[in-house]
Amino acid sequence: MTARRRLLSTSLTAGESQDLRVVGGHGAWFRLADGREVIDASNTAAPLGHCHPEVMEAIRRAATAPVLNEGWQWAERDEAAEDLVGIAFAGEDWVGAVRFFISASEANDAALALCQALTGRAPLATRERAYHGGAGLARELTVQPHWHGGPSSAQGVAAPPRPAPVPELPAPRGARGAREGSCVSRRNRWGTGTKFSRGCARL
Ligand SMILES: Cc1ncc(COP(=O)(O)O)c(C=O)c1O
Repeated sequence: MTARRRLLSTSLTAGESQDLRVVGGHGAWFRLADGREVIDASNTAAPLGHCHPEVMEAIRRAATAPVLNEGWQWAERDEAAEDLVGIAFAGEDWVGAVRFFISASEANDAALALCQALTGRAPLATRERAYHGGAGLARELTVQPHWHGGPSSAQGVAAPPRPAPVPELPAPRGARGAREGSCVSRRNRWGTGTKFSRGCARL
C-alpha cells in the first residue's frame, strides 16, 4: 500500500502523478519532485508566500514557548488581543474583545452558533461558491460538494445527513462574470437552492 493510500482525502486533489509531488516551496513558488519550479496559484494557506523568513522565525519562537490551554494567563496572548483591537479594528467602537481559535472553521462555527444563540433562530444562508471551512456550521455554509461527502465506493458516495437546509443566495455581482446573471445555476443535490458548478457556464 502506498503512502497516498493511507490518506483519507476529498476529491480535491492534484492527481496521483509523481511528477506533481511538491518537495519544497519559497515565495510564490512550489518546487516539484522532478526539479521544476512552478507558481503556486492554488493556495490561500501562505498569504505571505511559502517559507517567509519572518513567519518561520515567529513559528520557531512559538515552539520554544510552553504549550498552554486557554485557562492559563499568557501575556503575549493578551498583547495580541490588544493589538488586534487597536490596529485591525481601530476606530470600530463596537468591538469589545477577541477570542483566538486554531482554525477559521472553528471560529466561523463558534460565530454562527453565537448568532443562533443570540437570535434564537437556527436557519442559516450562504452564497454560491462560498467556502467557510470544513467543520461544524462553517461546513454547512460551504457549498462545494466534496466537503459534504462520506465514504465512496463502487455504489457511489454515502453522504451524511445535513443538519438543516441552507439556502444558497446568488454570488455577489462582481463574482458572477462580466454580465449579471451570466452563471448557469443548478439545483443543488439537497434541493434547497442553486449551486455553483466548477467552470461556471456563460449564457
Ligand atoms: C474564506 C475561508 N473561510 C474559512 C476557511 C477555513 O479555514 P481553516 O482551514 O483555518 O479552518 C478558509 C480556508 O481556506 C477560507 O478561505
